[in-house]
Parts: sequence; structure tokens; C-alpha cells
Amino acid sequence: MTNKNLLVANWKMNLGPSKSAQLARDLRELANGLKKTEIWVAPSPVCLPAVLEQVKGSGVRSGAQNVHWAATGAFTGEVSVPMLQELSADFAITGHSERRHQFGETNELVVKRSLGALSQGLGVIHCIGEKLDERERGETNAVLARQLEPLFAEARADSFGNLVIAYEPVWAIGTGKVASVEEIREAHAFISGILGKYGAAACPVLYGGSVTPENYAGIIALDLVNGALVGGASLTLEGMRKLAEISEG
Ligand code: PGA
Repeated sequence: MTNKNLLVANWKMNLGPSKSAQLARDLRELANGLKKTEIWVAPSPVCLPAVLEQVKGSGVRSGAQNVHWAATGAFTGEVSVPMLQELSADFAITGHSERRHQFGETNELVVKRSLGALSQGLGVIHCIGEKLDERERGETNAVLARQLEPLFAEARADSFGNLVIAYEPVWAIGTGKVASVEEIREAHAFISGILGKYGAAACPVLYGGSVTPENYAGIIALDLVNGALVGGASLTLEGMRKLAEISEG
């Protein structure tokens, strides 16, 4: 997909259309000066047209926070791949922990979303990560495997170029509790082993969970970390500028 470090802003249910458009315009300028870093933005779906308008023709990519596998149909509240493609959106996030754990999306459903999007040619950021109790019981690797294996078992190898994995320990998202560099290194090594097994070693693997300018240098310095999925710190130009500077090294 890219050899650069990815800095993916997940704006969640924040920033309306005009604020999203403004920040997207600012990020477009910021991205102009970057050599080693690509900026991607995932606004609310109602803000996506305004954001895409701002970043058109620039290196900044924009996409959705979730996506359905069917092209059309009676699926109230959902967004389809053709709808996103008509807007020229580049990707969708799937399996974000807030979808899995606040809205009850099962692993099976998440895998269906990712496979559907990949088969229709959309980029996918497939999120995985263990809950605190799972980590404490020593089940982190088993959870990660369970979240990745069904995807790779079914995805076509020629779609791997459209796939990004985001490792986000659930207990570190929006909590201010960042995983230690050692915990991130171990999880990324395990994920890398699975990707290798399926011939998907080139898929970028991001870290996410309370990434801030204060902790990012140690994280992006890790060999197997190809960027970050950022929530809170991505909501301001200042936050993104600092993260981009760190990513540039
Ligand atoms: P956070 O969110 O940076 O606010 O922890 C990350 C994410 O949910 O992707």
C-alpha cells in the first residue's frame, strides 16, 4: 500500500462538516512538507464529502470509520463500498474496538466487513486488539490470532495490497494508558509472524491506543510499527503536526 509511515486520524463522532473540512485543509498543507509520512483521515461519514473535497489531488487520503459488505440493501445505518467509491474515498476502518465492544460487533461480522470491502477493491484498516482481562489471563496472542486468521484464510492474496492492520489494545484506547514499548514490540512480532504465514508481510501494521506526541517517538522507532491510528491527539492540527514531525524523524 505504501512504504511510508502512516498517520491515520480517527475522528470518531467528533468534528462536524465545517470543522472537519477546515482541519482537512490544514492537514493537506501539513502533508505537503512530509517525505516519510502519509496522512489518512477517517471523519464521520456525513463529513466525508467535505473532507474529500479538501484533500482531492493531495497526498492525504480519506475514508470511513466502518463499511458494510453488501453493495446495496436494507441495512439501516450502514454505508456501502460503492457509496464510498463514488465519493473517491480510499479506505474504511473495520473492527474498531468501539464497534466490537460498545456496539457488539462480533469477530465474524468484522471479518465479513473486511472481506467485503477488500473484494470490492476498497482499502481496509482492520483493527485488532485484546481486552485487559484477556491480557491478564495471558490470552493476547490467542485473541490476535482469532481476529486475524479468519481474514487471511479467506482474503485473496491479490487484495493484500489494500490491507492495513491496526493493533489497538482495547485497554489503551481513549484511556491515556499507552502500552509499553515492550508490549507493543511483542504484539507486533506476533502479528508479523501471522502475516508472514499468509504471504502478507508487506501489509503495514499500525499501533493505536492513546498515542500522543509525548509517547510516539518510542513507538514509531520500533521496526515492526509502520505508523499509528490516532483518536484524541488527531483532533487538532497541533497534535497532528507534532506526530508528523516525530514520524519524519
Ligand atoms: P485514542 O484512540 O488515540 O484516543 O486512544 C485511538 C483509536 O481509537 O483508534
